[in-house]
Amino acid sequence: MKQKSRHPQLAWVLVLRFLTLVFWDVLGVRALDNGLAKTPTMGWLHWERFMCNVNCQEEPDSCISEKLFMQMADLMDSDGWKDVGYEYLCIDDCWMAPERDSDGRLQADPTRFPGGIARLAKYVHSKGLKLGIYADVGNKTCAGFPGSFGYYDIDAQTFADWGVDLLKFDGCYCDSLEHLADGYKRMSLALNRTGRSIVYSCEWPLYTWHFHKPNYTEIRQYCNHWRNFADVNDSWQSVKSILDWTSSNQEGIVDVAGPGGWNDPDMLVIGNFGLSWDQQITQMAFWAIMAAPLLMSNDLRTISTQAKALLQDKDVIAINQDPLGKQGYKLRKEDNIEVWERPLSNLAWAVAMVNLQEIGGPRFHSIFVASLGKGVACNPACLITQLLPTKKKLGFYSWTSTLKTQINPTGTVLLRLESAGHVTLHQKTSFKRCTTLS
Ligand code: GLA
Repeated sequence: MKQKSRHPQLAWVLVLRFLTLVFWDVLGVRALDNGLAKTPTMGWLHWERFMCNVNCQEEPDSCISEKLFMQMADLMDSDGWKDVGYEYLCIDDCWMAPERDSDGRLQADPTRFPGGIARLAKYVHSKGLKLGIYADVGNKTCAGFPGSFGYYDIDAQTFADWGVDLLKFDGCYCDSLEHLADGYKRMSLALNRTGRSIVYSCEWPLYTWHFHKPNYTEIRQYCNHWRNFADVNDSWQSVKSILDWTSSNQEGIVDVAGPGGWNDPDMLVIGNFGLSWDQQITQMAFWAIMAAPLLMSNDLRTISTQAKALLQDKDVIAINQDPLGKQGYKLRKEDNIEVWERPLSNLAWAVAMVNLQEIGGPRFHSIFVASLGKGVACNPACLITQLLPTKKKLGFYSWTSTLKTQINPTGTVLLRLESAGHVTLHQKTSFKRCTTLS
């Protein structure tokens, strides 16, 4: 109370912000009503790293087989992944036998998955994890295995019977836009009817974009997350193109995301071969800003300590998983530096600045803190902590101060801004001293 009377302006700002949030929630688009993905899904997905390798004879350690998933389950459990939130171990394409069984049910390839998916699900559950699987709305999966068209109910029930917890539903080999939309909706309803909690991961908008702008309001009512853009691959070009696509389309997609339904910019490729260290930092920072599902596609058996630490960074994960569930957006681009920001719970903000200039060395960037967080993040002051590339407290910044950072080429500086109203008395005593540094 005392604080309010001393800062009437702050009190008004807080009231206005509260009302804005209430309106956002009231007007927000209704999410798929299955109670899942209240924060973005976290886990591991085989596709980018292991693709459709079915040659277990010659490549037993990297083919798509139950052994691969059991090994990943062991490591997710033993190496701290589960503890920081990576929970869903997901199979992508190429797990199936080439034909359905005599009852029309999908079946796993018997040589690569001798125990079947049900036994694998049991194993994964015994490690305290959840199992994801892949199927396709059309006549075939993208790699040519049996599609679910005409089998939505039977496939949903099969997955539920096996104990599957997530379905990635692809959109290849669908003969019309009507079948595509109809199929995605039918599978959503079929999954719900099974009574099992199954996260529903769609690629509906990605395939719709080829023809027209997707209806995101509708997509959110049926899917827990949805791919919008091309497949990620292990390159800076790919990560950059995803960021470009996302910012160019942010007016249409940012406000649709929220608890229960998320834009999915595809897998994290951190820990593989194609990204420099700075680029890996950029991917991690921006997947946090975008409130993206964090589905790693890498080899947990051989991942470096450095990549592991980045993927397990609790402060960055906390931004990704922030319960307010608002996706961030690009604020501006200036001199090849992009500044993105994301509102967080308790009036905090995350800010990411990426240096897109691929010539020269680290560059300094100065920013008025008053321009961040809709002008209110640092009004009257905020506590700023740099989370990436390394964690350090930068101190208090008053509304009129300037923040100067140094950003490596293709690297990112990720910051967390805490509202001054939410810091302790002890921290406040250093307020004046720190602002003079800025
Ligand atoms: C599509 C999807 C990818 C992957 C492959 C599998 O390209 O977008 O994420 O699932 O199919 O064939």
